[in-house]
Amino acid sequence: MKRNDSMLIRHLSNFGILSGAKIIEIGCGNGELTRQLSDLVGSEGIIVAVDNNGKALEVAQSKINTFKYNNVQFVESDITSFPVDMSLTEENSFDFLIGRRILMYLATPSTVIKDLSKYLKKDGIAMFQESDPTIVPASITPMPAHDKAVELIRTMLKAECAHMTMGFNLPKTLINSGLEFKQVYAEAVIQGQGEQYILSDMIKLLTHRLVDKGLATQLDIINLIENLIDESHDKSNVYISDMSFCAWAKKCSIS
Ligand SMILES: C[S@@+](CC[C@H](N)C(=O)[O-])C[C@H]1O[C@@H](n2cnc3c(N)ncnc32)[C@H](O)[C@@H]1O
Repeated sequence: MKRNDSMLIRHLSNFGILSGAKIIEIGCGNGELTRQLSDLVGSEGIIVAVDNNGKALEVAQSKINTFKYNNVQFVESDITSFPVDMSLTEENSFDFLIGRRILMYLATPSTVIKDLSKYLKKDGIAMFQESDPTIVPASITPMPAHDKAVELIRTMLKAECAHMTMGFNLPKTLINSGLEFKQVYAEAVIQGQGEQYILSDMIKLLTHRLVDKGLATQLDIINLIENLIDESHDKSNVYISDMSFCAWAKKCSIS
C-alpha cells in the first residue's frame, strides 16, 4: 500500500453505506483523513475532529472550507481531557470512534479509548490505523539512502517517546479499553513504485522535527533527499519502509 492510502477508509467502507454516520476522529492533524470521512458520511453525517495542535487545525479548517459538505466540527482539545465543550457531544450517540497514527503518541491509549467510547452508541465501532516499523525495513536490493531515512525517522519517533510497537499492540490496546476486540489487519508500506508518497517527501515534511532534535542538518537532509530520489528511479525495486495495522472493536453494552 501507499503510505497515505488510507487502509482505515477501506476497512470502514466494509461496514456498508456510511452516509449519515456520526464519527469522532481523534488526532485529526491537518485533516487529510477527515476530508475522506466527510465524503463518506455525506450531508446527513457529522464528524467531530479533535486535535490539540491549533496550527494543524487551521490548515484542516481551511482545506475543508472548499469541500462539498458542511459536516465537520473541528475541536481544539487534548483528547486526554476531551471534550472541552460538552455541547458538541452527547453520550451514546456516535457510530464510530476513529483515529490514524494518534495512539502511538498517547501515554495511556487504552484509557483514552475507554473514556471516549462512552460517546459511542451500543454496537458502535472503534477503529484505528497505526504504524509499526519494528519488523522493517525490508528489501532485496541494497538501498542505503532509504535505510538511512527510515533509521532517522525511527530515531526521531523514539526521541518523541512514541510507541514504536503500536501496530502490533492494537488488539491489546482495544481489549484493555473494555471494548470487544474484533479484528486486526496489517499491510506493508512500499516505497518507490511510481505514484507513491515516497520517503523523500516524508523526510522533507519532517525537516523541522529532525533539525530541531539535532538528528540532521538542513544540508544532510538536502543530500539525503537527492540520494533517495536516485534510489527511487529503478521502478523494479521493492522497499518496505513500514507496516500499517488497522484494528476494530465493538461497544457491546452501555453502562
Ligand atoms: C502523526 S499526526 C496524524 C494526523 C492524522 N491523524 C493523519 O493520519 O494524517 C498525530 C496527530 O495527533 C495529534 N495529537 C497528539 N497527541 C494529542 C493529544 N493528546 N490530543 C489531541 N491531539 C493529539 C497531533 O497534534 C497530530 O496532529
